Amino acid sequence: MTDRSDASSGDKTPHNGQMAPSKKVFVKTYGCQMNVYDSERMVGLLKPLGYAPSDVPDDADLVILNTCHIREKAAEKVYSDLGRIKKHKTKKPDMKVAVAGCVAQAEGAEITARAPVVDMVFGPQAYHKLPEMIARAARDSGEVLETDFTVEEKFDRLAEREVDGYSAFVTVQEGCDKFCTFCVVPYTRGAEVSRSVDAVTAEVRSLASRGLREVTLLGQNVNAWHSPAPAGHIAGHTEGSTFGLGELVRHIAQIDGIDRIRFTTSHPRDMDDGLIAAFGEEEKLMPYLHLPVQAGSDKILKAMNRGHTAETYIRQIEKVRAARPDIAISGDMIVGFPGETAEDFEMTMEIVREVNYASCFSFKYSRRPGTPGATMPLQVPEDEKSDRLARLQALLEEQKQAFNAAQLGRVLPVLFEKEGRNKGQLIGRSPYLQAVHAVATPDMLGQIVPVEIIGCAPNSLEGALAGLKEKTS
Ligand code: SAH
Ligand code: SF4
Ligand code: F3S
Repeated sequence: MTDRSDASSGDKTPHNGQMAPSKKVFVKTYGCQMNVYDSERMVGLLKPLGYAPSDVPDDADLVILNTCHIREKAAEKVYSDLGRIKKHKTKKPDMKVAVAGCVAQAEGAEITARAPVVDMVFGPQAYHKLPEMIARAARDSGEVLETDFTVEEKFDRLAEREVDGYSAFVTVQEGCDKFCTFCVVPYTRGAEVSRSVDAVTAEVRSLASRGLREVTLLGQNVNAWHSPAPAGHIAGHTEGSTFGLGELVRHIAQIDGIDRIRFTTSHPRDMDDGLIAAFGEEEKLMPYLHLPVQAGSDKILKAMNRGHTAETYIRQIEKVRAARPDIAISGDMIVGFPGETAEDFEMTMEIVREVNYASCFSFKYSRRPGTPGATMPLQVPEDEKSDRLARLQALLEEQKQAFNAAQLGRVLPVLFEKEGRNKGQLIGRSPYLQAVHAVATPDMLGQIVPVEIIGCAPNSLEGALAGLKEKTS
């Protein structure tokens, strides 16, 4: 009888001390890339406890919703998802349900009051305590709540993660001290903290040893990253003993195997000359910069507490383009911030025309509880916000299509990352982060291959192999 023989093999712990997967964890990730990174690290941490990742929540032993609080819609989605998960838990009563991430940090115990199906609530600084929290949730019947900001190095206590493909995120900086008046991030992620050069380098080296070709350095304010230079470093591009993001990029670029480096998201206030120069000098740094401006009117930028003007932003873009003329500029825009008049909005349209974005995200202002913007007078009516957003998005779409069309006929190095929808096709990214699909052989996965751009679809480029020689930039 099979179950007897299973029982006699008893202990499922292999010799390395890790438990063979016997339980399933379903993780759903909302929001930004930092949450994607955190989710991967949580899965890595749960693996030695015997949890294998599952694509569906239906019969999972543990469900983790890694949530986002940035706009009302994102936060509300969590509650509708919890409604669905409740049905699965009815069928599998020992299922444990956790709400992690920024909604957990912002709403804390309100979550279990509103959704009793939830067993655990923990914020972004508590992930390394996951094993202990699971044990507590199994032992006690009450809910587990962890929303303190601890100064402990969350990253160093999280286990290695498994990564698919050839490109990975690496969080180098967490938190935000900027306090834009519309934004919840400083409250959900805490103060700005930078990881050390050695910790980041070790993580990137480990990714390179597993065959990864590209890393994207992440932070809510990634260009505010700074840390003491590693021991024995001889100052090259900068004098002194502190590394900024530009130095970190140059340092990481020395790691063999890693051929592409990106970073996101930058703040105009922290865009220093060393980082700008790196775009022109470090060939592994990809020509793509996400630098949100949010609005084009100085009156609105001041009310948002952005700490820059439209003019200073434009000057920075000019500098970046002088360093790397073909760079793709990307950004974020908010329409309908309190006090935004039709005239202010025209200034947003104007700055967009001036910058000419390769891609740009745009949002209607969402009132977030606890932020200064939520109680400001002159809130803009919803239909006005919708009209402005539609006009802005039409312009941004035009710019994006023009940027894509400008690649027609060019040969771009493409890092092939996965198989395409059609047989014989691979999909990868251009240096400008555009998705490119081309007929190519599976052995080209993980390679950077010259591809001639022969077609343009709304969200991707079509390419044809231009040769077999590998290029990196
Ligand atoms: N740290 C990054 C981005 C953080 S959030 C930065 O400063 O650029 C990502 C984007 O969400 C922001 O750039 C902003 O455009 C948008 N956003 C943040 N809060 C918002 C709100 N209350 N309503 C609408 N959009 C918002
Ligand atoms: Fe939010 Fe502003 Fe900080 Fe970005 S810089 S995370 S928009 S407060
Ligand atoms: Fe959302 Fe938190 Fe990221 S609010 S955008 S998940 S930092």
